Amino acid sequence: MAERTFVMIKPDGVGRRLVGECIKRFEQKGMKLVGLKLQILGEDVAKAHYDEHKERPFFGDLVSFITSGPTVQMVWEGPDAVAQVRKMNGATDCKKADMGTIRGDFGMSLQNNMIHASDSVETAVREIALYFNENELWSYAMPDDGWLQ
Ligand code: CMP
Repeated sequence: MAERTFVMIKPDGVGRRLVGECIKRFEQKGMKLVGLKLQILGEDVAKAHYDEHKERPFFGDLVSFITSGPTVQMVWEGPDAVAQVRKMNGATDCKKADMGTIRGDFGMSLQNNMIHASDSVETAVREIALYFNENELWSYAMPDDGWLQ
């Protein structure tokens, strides 16, 4: 199976009507969408998602921000998917993110950085399982699969 990564558009990304823009960029890159949801996260899921940050001073703000409105969960598949999507999202702090990345082009904030993506293949496996059942992820062929290897 090709590499998969988990991507979440945060409440500010949804609120600023950037869902289509983000999806467009991943599609145009050649990634394949294999799972998609819109939901307002409960506190338990948000805390589990950001568990590695639980000792950080911004943890409370992070959880209240991510549960404050609708979010979009996606699983994207493609060669080197984890690193490619991280590169397309840009640096965590939007002010430091390169132009041409989603955060560099659309954001100004460190906390409200519009989009999240898994930082490793292991993290992707954990994050995908947190939001998707196996029967909510789809394996299918695309006509251009052979041109994207
Ligand atoms: P994300 O990629 O979702 O992973 C953890 C999130 O914590 C990060 O994006 C930011 O939204 C947020 N974050 C990271 N560092 C800080 C910080 N120093 N202050 C506030 N929020 C932060």
